Formats: sequence, structure tokens, C-alpha cells
Amino acid sequence: MISINNGKWIRVRIIRQSVIEIILPYALIACLSMLSYDLANVYYYESHRMTTDYNHIFNQHWTIYQKILQHDYMGHQAVFGLLEGSLVTHFPDQSLDLLDIGCGDAQTLAAFLQTSALQSYTGIDLSKEALELVPKNVGSLNCAMTLMNDDFVAAIEQLTQEQVGQFDVIFSGFALHHVQDETKAKLFANIKQLLKPHGRFYLIDVYQQENETRETYLDRYLAPTLTHWHALDEHETALLNTHVRSSDFPSTRTKLESMAFDVGFANCECLLADPIHSNILLSMGK
Ligand SMILES: C[S@@+](CC[C@H](N)C(=O)[O-])C[C@H]1O[C@@H](n2cnc3c(N)ncnc32)[C@H](O)[C@@H]1O
Repeated sequence: MISINNGKWIRVRIIRQSVIEIILPYALIACLSMLSYDLANVYYYESHRMTTDYNHIFNQHWTIYQKILQHDYMGHQAVFGLLEGSLVTHFPDQSLDLLDIGCGDAQTLAAFLQTSALQSYTGIDLSKEALELVPKNVGSLNCAMTLMNDDFVAAIEQLTQEQVGQFDVIFSGFALHHVQDETKAKLFANIKQLLKPHGRFYLIDVYQQENETRETYLDRYLAPTLTHWHALDEHETALLNTHVRSSDFPSTRTKLESMAFDVGFANCECLLADPIHSNILLSMGK
């Protein structure tokens, strides 16, 4: 599990989901999950549950996400600026164990990761292609790095069997809106367990206004993609709209805050609620 990256030793472990596992009986799956192979200095582990052809989705959508970032259509700069400020305030000079849920290619967190003292970085994402870009985007962090290619609900469940109280910071950026409130609430409960006593959970996501239905939210959220997101061509705009309409289940601010308190977070600070971009940044502590 050791590989060389830019001359520095780091530990890179990519745990990969496999279609075999939904075809073969459980006992055989367990055996196969122990197999590993070496590819380009990265050790891949066959492991885990279900698969969707998520990499196909990744290939279609990542170019669009890059354009969105480049033009700051979703307001990443403001919300990630606030996140980094809060992390520096809460964790000065600390060597952090950081878990990134739905990390993608970790591009949006790269600047923080590169300038922080990290003990370990763990990223979870369904897209293997995205995970393969993480070492390139973050450079040599000189810390243990574990990349889990899995559904984050399953992966978090697994981590709560193995790593209770292990993380200083758990972060999720624009990923949890892919699951519904009930699943989010279970995730919040598991996330709290995974944090060290002084640890914090930072959530950046899209959020729905209190008086909105999902339909009115989607119409409002997608309106500027049709009129103002000029960097996307017609095909990309259509793909984006289809993806958001089928996959986004944002919660309201009240719902997110009550989930935090219901699972026992002692405090839940709202660092940003931006109704224009529909972005929220919450910081939760035990
Ligand atoms: C919009 S991107 C956000 C990437 C990065 N966190 C950021 O803030 O820019 C959402 C990411 O969540 C991942 N994702 C969505 N649903 C997932 C799930 N159920 N399990 C794991 N990853 C998931 C996608 O593959 C994608 O990389």
C-alpha cells in the first residue's frame, strides 16, 4: 500500500467497487474482495457492493463541472473561502485526520490540503476516474491517503465499524444532496460517531428554501443555467438539467439543522446561507 508520489512516500489505497459482487454469491465475493493488483504504482483493492455505471456518468459530467468551477457559477469561491477560514480558526497548527465524503477529484479542497498539516486524508467517491485524479490534484501531501471507491452511505457505515472517533474533520462538498433526508439523517449520526471529541463536521451543499417544494426549487435553481451559464453548450445544459432534476434532493436549512441536533451535535453553526446560489455551509461540533 505504499507508493511514491513526486519523490515523497505516501500511502495510497484505492478501494474499488466491483460488478462481480452483485453477480456472485456472498462467500465468493468475500474471497474476491481480498484480491488486489498493482497498476501504475497504485494498489487497487477489489471490494464492496453495488455498482452503477458511474464512471460513464463521471465522463459526461466532469467537463461540465470543470466549466462551472472555472466560471464560479455555483459560488464555490465564496463558500470554500469561508470553509478554509473556519478550518484554520478551529484547527490551528494541528495535524489533521480528514475525511472527505463525495470528494470527487478533490480539486476544490486541494489548496487547503496542500497548505495544511495533515496526518491522513480519506476520500470517498463513487467515481473511480475522479479518485484517480486526486493524487495529481492534491500533489504530495506527505500523509497517509486512503481513497474509497464506493457509495458513501455504505462506506460511512463500514467506517463506523472500524474507525469510531478517528477524524478531526469530516467534510462533504456538494454531494449529500444526492440522498434523501432519511438517509442524510443516518449519515449525520454515523459522521458524529466518526469524529474525535473536538472534531467538526463541515457540510457544503445546495439547500431548498423553507417554503419551496422540490419542483419549485428545481425550477428556480435551474433557471440561470438556461439564461446565464453561457460557457455550457446546449447539450451540456440539457445534461446538467436532466442530472439535477433526477438526482438532487436538497434539504432546507431548518431540516439540516434539526438533523444535526437530533443526532446529538452540541452546536451547529451556519457560516453561509446564500439564497442566490442556494449554497449552505454548516459547521457542526460535538
Ligand atoms: C458535485 S461533485 C462535488 C465534488 C467535490 N466534493 C466538490 O465539492 O467539488 C459530487 C461528487 O459526489 C459524488 N457522489 C454522488 N453520489 C455519491 C454517492 N452516493 N456515493 C459516493 N459518491 C457520490 C460524485 O461522484 C461526485 O464526485
